[in-house]
Amino acid sequence: MTGGELAVHGLGKAYAGVRALDDVSFAVAAGEIVGLIGPNGSGKTTAIDCVTGLQRLDAGTVHLDGRDITGRRPDQVAHHGLVRTFQQVRTFETLTVRHNLRVAALGRRPRSRRLADLVRPDREPPALRDRIDELIETFALGPVAHQAAGEISYGQRKLVEFAAACVTPPRVLLLDEPVAAVNPSIGNLIRDRIRDLNAEGTTVLLVEHNIELVVGLCHRVVVLNQGRTLAQGKPAEVIARDDVQEAYFGG
Ligand SMILES: Nc1ncnc2c1ncn2[C@@H]1O[C@H](COP(=O)(O)OP(=O)(O)O)[C@@H](O)[C@H]1O
Ligand SMILES: [Mg+2]
Repeated sequence: MTGGELAVHGLGKAYAGVRALDDVSFAVAAGEIVGLIGPNGSGKTTAIDCVTGLQRLDAGTVHLDGRDITGRRPDQVAHHGLVRTFQQVRTFETLTVRHNLRVAALGRRPRSRRLADLVRPDREPPALRDRIDELIETFALGPVAHQAAGEISYGQRKLVEFAAACVTPPRVLLLDEPVAAVNPSIGNLIRDRIRDLNAEGTTVLLVEHNIELVVGLCHRVVVLNQGRTLAQGKPAEVIARDDVQEAYFGG
């Protein structure tokens, strides 16, 4: 699989007077891991929401491999291999871990659990079953595979959220704080999975406050502050900049 190339230009988005994004431009080359960092409220989640069509942009364009996908719906961008995870995990709590992964194979989120229920185990194609088995193993979800997602730990739900994004291997994966509030062993597992996915060709945009993870994984970082691009470049160099330190700790 070859990773996709994501380019955003001049992104603008306001929520009731709040300028969440203001003329934001950056690119993620095919096969790259780019960190999208910045203080709380700087627009990172909004950027992911707008790139994947969950929120409508007020201004700007989104290109995937040179194709204009601005304003496409989440299921349409997913069809092109652009997939995201959510900062707040969005598993179906009453469905088992395995069933959650099966639902993810639909390529889009069903609007209701009733629809999710239609994805029956007896209809599971062998290739899908093998893929889900593989993910359950690599994400260490074996012991909880048949438990309801609402009964497992928060860290395990973060793993399910990530694994669900991988059922159909993404070309570009947008991760919104994948290790926030998880214990170190799950954090390490997630770090290794990001590395593996990238080694297999997936392009990654990583939103994360864990600077050690960002510096360890990312080829480049983009810093947002109050909806604007403050800095871009090599992780250690950018993070050491006075204006970036000020944005994080100065306020
Ligand atoms: N759905 C929304 N409705 C109203 N305001 C929002 C919404 N989403 C984000 N915002 C506001 O936009 C700004 C950027 O938020 P967000 O993108 O969540 O930042 P980050 O992910 O960097 O913490 C914040 O001021 C936030 O309160
Ligand atoms: Mg956020």
